[in-house]
Amino acid sequence: MEKWTDRYASEVPFGGEVGLVEFRSFEDSLHPCSNAILTANLYIRKMKGGSQSILVLANDGRHYVVKMTDNPIGPNVLANEHLGSHVAKAVGVPVAEAKGICLSDSFIDSHPDMWFELPSGVRRPTKGMHFGSLFVGKTSGPDRPTEYISPSRVSMITNREAFLGMYLLDVWANHQDNRQAIFRRSSTNAQEVCFIDHGHMFGGPEWNFKENSASALHLERAVYSDLWRDEQVVSWISRIQTLIPDVLASIVPPMPSEWYSGDLGELLIRLEDRLLRLPELVQADAEKTWHPSQQKNINETLRLSDVGIHDLRTPETRSAFHRRRGTA
Ligand SMILES: Nc1ncnc2c1ncn2[C@@H]1O[C@H](COP(=O)(O)OP(=O)(O)O)[C@@H](O)[C@H]1O
Ligand SMILES: [Mg+2]
Repeated sequence: MEKWTDRYASEVPFGGEVGLVEFRSFEDSLHPCSNAILTANLYIRKMKGGSQSILVLANDGRHYVVKMTDNPIGPNVLANEHLGSHVAKAVGVPVAEAKGICLSDSFIDSHPDMWFELPSGVRRPTKGMHFGSLFVGKTSGPDRPTEYISPSRVSMITNREAFLGMYLLDVWANHQDNRQAIFRRSSTNAQEVCFIDHGHMFGGPEWNFKENSASALHLERAVYSDLWRDEQVVSWISRIQTLIPDVLASIVPPMPSEWYSGDLGELLIRLEDRLLRLPELVQADAEKTWHPSQQKNINETLRLSDVGIHDLRTPETRSAFHRRRGTA
């Protein structure tokens, strides 16, 4: 497998310029605002959550949840959001669209409500490029999306298999928090999942990887029911290992330097190593997380199938994985 860290080191200087980000972030040619800089026009409200993000209307007429640099959660949260969104999208896991959003001095001064509230007092955010997550669904009214899903509605999630892909990505990224998702209801009452909040991926806001951290699972464990199939797991792992090097090589360099304070080169080397070891990481995590002895609190009918967890370590599965890799 090609080492993307080599490519990164040889071709691109560290600490991309904000100007580059502004350009690269809007290359979606389908959107009328492609190659334009998005700015927040209207402040709507502060969102719940430790990073004290805000809901804004941007100059493309769409709503974004904006997570600001220097937020109280930690120094690398915006980089994690950016990387998490793009790798997930690249491997086919549904995530809210990521954009850079500029907040001007006058916008920040006009809305003291959006300033960070800290134990030490209020802190004014800084102007510049922040991370925007395109709001999933409607921002108000009865069709507002929800983060809660009851076990009885789990079967109505049309793209529920995405939870398996997201779990495997989170294992790779050493995600240090629960997995957050938004559920959007369609006219037929079906639910569609879209993942949000990647701020604690990549070893958390401090890029502090912990090998024995708990798995990043959605709080409603029923969403994983019967998802584990050896072939699916092998296929996701193969896709992740194949696609992620290119994604990281293309999205990391133009990231604004204000979005992280950790050692980016070190992070990439660690991620590359974890990518190579992904089957082992998944196997270890799955045994810990999904072994029947760990599932005392999960209703029998919701338990993941016994296939998979145990079979992942069988010679058949391992050889299936290696066969797949050999042809990738
Ligand atoms: N793309 C989005 N679409 C809809 N709601 C969102 C989106 N992103 C975030 N939210 C809402 O904003 C809240 C805070 O965002 P989150 O990313 O979880 O920030 P924090 O890091 O503070 O936990 C979420 O709990 C969710 O309700
Ligand atoms: Mg959150």
